[in-house]
Amino acid sequence: MKLLKSLCIIPAALIAFSASGTAQADGAALFKAKTCWSCHGKDAKTPILPIYPKLAGQNADYAFNQMKDIKSGARANGQSAAMKGVLGMVNEKEMREIANWISTLK
Ligand code: HEC
Repeated sequence: MKLLKSLCIIPAALIAFSASGTAQADGAALFKAKTCWSCHGKDAKTPILPIYPKLAGQNADYAFNQMKDIKSGARANGQSAAMKGVLGMVNEKEMREIANWISTLK
């Protein structure tokens, strides 16, 4: 039981860590950590393929909703299957932070 308890502390600490700092810094860090840049480009506007979308400057609510819909399968158009896999490691709070950051880019 003691071991179980101490194991439970680790995820809580990780969540607390990712919740710290400004949304903007977190969004940028998440964009790197979750490998978003590998398809959408480091500046979020130089996608690796011309048919992949530029994200910089996109409306935050729109971007957030697209991520949610691609993850849930509600949006399954075009190339969205390419992106669905990566969203398995991104929760809604992280999507929101990335979306807010994207919207601040020029
Ligand atoms: C394997 C490549 C790939 C990765 C990795 C990837 N995406 Fe995408 N993403 C795409 C593609 C392709 C689309 C367009 C899907 C379509 O054609 O409908 C897309 C669409 C989007 C959209 C919707 C854009 C719009 O204008 O509707 C957003 C927002 C987005 N991605 C954000 C992210 C974020 C944030 C991450 C990291 C968590 C990420 N993507 C990781 C390939 C990727």
